[in-house]
Amino acid sequence: MAKKLEFPKNFLWGGATAASQIEGAYDVDGKSLSILEMIPFMELKDRKDLSATRKLTKQDLLDSIENKKGLHYPKRYGIDFYHRYKEDIALFKEAGLKIFRMSVAWGRIFPNGDEKEQNQKGLEFYRNVFKECKAQGLEVMVTINHFDTPFPIMQNYGGWKNRKVIDMYFKYAKVLIDEFNEYVKYWLPFNEINLAVLISAFFVEDKSGNKTTFEKINESYQDLHHQFIAQTKVVEYAKKFKNIQVGCMVANSTTYALDCNPVNVFENQQKELMKKLFYYDVMIKGEYPWYSIKYFEDNNIKILKEPGDDQLLKNNPVEFITFSYYMSSTIAKEEGELTEGNLMKLGKNPFLEATEWGWQIDPIGLRYTLNQLWDRYHVPLFISENGIGMLEKLNNKNTVEDDYRIDYLARHFEQMSLAIKDGVNLFGYTMWTPIDVVSAGSNEMSKRYGLIYVDYDDYHKGTGNRFKKKSFNWFKKFMNTSEI
Ligand code: BG6
Repeated sequence: MAKKLEFPKNFLWGGATAASQIEGAYDVDGKSLSILEMIPFMELKDRKDLSATRKLTKQDLLDSIENKKGLHYPKRYGIDFYHRYKEDIALFKEAGLKIFRMSVAWGRIFPNGDEKEQNQKGLEFYRNVFKECKAQGLEVMVTINHFDTPFPIMQNYGGWKNRKVIDMYFKYAKVLIDEFNEYVKYWLPFNEINLAVLISAFFVEDKSGNKTTFEKINESYQDLHHQFIAQTKVVEYAKKFKNIQVGCMVANSTTYALDCNPVNVFENQQKELMKKLFYYDVMIKGEYPWYSIKYFEDNNIKILKEPGDDQLLKNNPVEFITFSYYMSSTIAKEEGELTEGNLMKLGKNPFLEATEWGWQIDPIGLRYTLNQLWDRYHVPLFISENGIGMLEKLNNKNTVEDDYRIDYLARHFEQMSLAIKDGVNLFGYTMWTPIDVVSAGSNEMSKRYGLIYVDYDDYHKGTGNRFKKKSFNWFKKFMNTSEI
């Protein structure tokens, strides 16, 4: 029997995307290559093991510029949103979305990062998209930087470890806010600021030669510090405008102790501090927390700060929290069985089912997380990503019977509604994603999240046409009835 869920009347239901995963048109109108557009598609032998895609050499990246090896670079093509945005926005509206989260490609606005003038053609594209959203009555949330730093900034400045990048980023962010504040109410300076640190580490050479690796996390706390400062500058600048708000975005890692062995419970508590709460603490409480100071000392990590940095952090906490929530995992002192997670391997939980990519499905973990974050910070919460990636094919009726997605969304919506009843201030939700996109982590089209199917395969072969899945109609009905 259908169950009616309760949500506040003005709850912001919507969908999320990212420029590098949808736009395509990688070399159009003056855009530069982003670091993500240099990662080739690799056939996966085992979907639960993405390590092959994480071992690229610097030479591989350089070769990609002229595509010397004739490989396919999926994020250069996306789903051609650049040319089909009107059709897509109309479909979002039809599904009942009230807010659309998207990102701007930095390389369309400042291709090299250090130009004096912004690229008008790039601005024109986004102005058209925002106008279209407005015409369709969609609120917009913009991620200023969703992992896709322009390659020239990595090559010429070494990326975020260089403090000069703060100024380049801030100049870019200011242009966006000046140009688009009348269209965009919600701004997120960085996507998943905790993962962005890993991504910049990905492009650092290690001492033994030219291998890049995800293991160099220590070095990237400096990059992170620069991103924190860049973010606070955006928060500070946005205060000039009455109509906009700035929030943070964290890849939420909900973890449980593997069992009730106190050793594991303590391990989980400690890991949770540095792996998760640290990021929120800095951005909401406005200072590096006590446990991080000790962690940096113990691990010989030195963060170079400039005078004024601490004050900037203190004076400019974000106004709301957003986070992505896909899964949960377990922590134990002695590492047990692992499964694949978002960019890194995670502890398996025997009570949870997982997708083909090993992501463990845990709706109750979402309620747990909402309660935890509300209790600790007491600032409004927004779920900026949540969804399920699956292998899918169109059937002979030109649709996909994605009952598992309906089930996934329904179970998460139910837990959100319960969290609101618990007293949590949750004001919106953007699913990942209303439309199939190129996967961020595995670079495939095959990992589909959408309510809308897009006819492209992993090599961008296909018509690109859009088809409504069963979940599209389910979601549309849910928007009218609140029934699951
Ligand atoms: C988040 C990212 O980490 O997870 C998105 O913000 C990404 O860009 C999403 O697409 C799902 O990850 P994946 O690897 O399945 O695309």
